[in-house]
Amino acid sequence: MYETQDAELYTRSHTIRLYQPEDFEGMRKAGRLVAEALDMIGEHVKPGVTTGELDDLVRQFTLDNGGLPACLGYKGYTKTTCISINHVVCHGIPGDKALKDGDIVNIDHTVIVDGWHGDSSRMYAVGEINTRAKKLIDVTYEALDIGLKQVKPGNTFGDIGFAIQKYVEAQRMSVVRDFCGHGIGRVFHDNPNVLHFGRRGEGAVLKPGMFFTVEPMVNLGKPAVKVLSDGWTAVTRDKSLSSQCEHSVGVTEDGLEIFTASPKGLFRPVFS
Ligand code: MF3
Ligand code: CO
Ligand code: CO
Repeated sequence: MYETQDAELYTRSHTIRLYQPEDFEGMRKAGRLVAEALDMIGEHVKPGVTTGELDDLVRQFTLDNGGLPACLGYKGYTKTTCISINHVVCHGIPGDKALKDGDIVNIDHTVIVDGWHGDSSRMYAVGEINTRAKKLIDVTYEALDIGLKQVKPGNTFGDIGFAIQKYVEAQRMSVVRDFCGHGIGRVFHDNPNVLHFGRRGEGAVLKPGMFFTVEPMVNLGKPAVKVLSDGWTAVTRDKSLSSQCEHSVGVTEDGLEIFTASPKGLFRPVFS
C-alpha cells in the first residue's frame, strides 16, 4: 500500500507510465513468482506458527526461485513480507507473535524478477474463524473483483474506486482511505494513486499499457486507522477486524491481465 497523498497530481493521465506489449512478459514472471510464494505459504498458516517463521519461509522461497524480496530494505523496512492479523489493516511487521485459532491474516509480498515488481496479498484463516470474519473476507474479495471489472481502456480510476466503495458500503462495512493501490512495473510504488473509493468518471482515463495494483482494505467497523509507534503497523482505530487482498494488473486493449493470479487457484479462500 501506498499512503494516499497528493491525489490531484497522481490522477493526471500524463504522469502515468505506459508500458509496451513486451513488458507484459516481465510482469508475468514477477507476478507468477509472488503468486507461487503465496500459494506455498498457505499450508504453513496454522495455530502456533510465528509471523517471523512465515516471513523466513517466504524469503527463502523467493530467493530459491530467482526473485528478490522488494520490501526488504525498502524505506528502512527489515522484513520480506507484511503480515497483518485481525485488526491490523496493513504493514504488520513479522516477528515473534504466534498465530492462534480464529485469527484472520493478510500476507502481502512483493518480488522483483529481472527488474519487474510483482505485488500481491491474500487472506488466510487460522483454524476455524467466525461467521463475521468469513463475511468480511468474502466482501473484500468481491470488492476486488468488482473493482477489477472496471479495468478497461476508456474507464477512469474513479470508476474503480466508486465500484469498490459502493459495494462495500452496501454490505455495511467500510473502505480504508489512508492507503491505496499504486502504479507498479520497474518502479515499486509509482503513479497513480489507485484509490478504493471515489466518484464515477473522475481521475485519469485508463489506457493499454498501464500497470497498477488494486488492493482494497475493508473494515467491519469504521474506516479510520492509526499507525503504531513502530512507524509501520496500521490498525483500525475502533479495533474492528480488517481484511485486504491485492493483485497487480495490466490494462490490455480490451480489459486487463492479472499478473498475480494463483497457479493453483488458491487466491481466494473458501470456507466450508
Ligand atoms: N506490498 C505493499 C504494497 O502493497 C508495500 C509494503 S512496503 C513495506 O504496496 F515496506 F512495508 F514492505
Ligand atoms: Co501494493
Ligand atoms: Co502489496
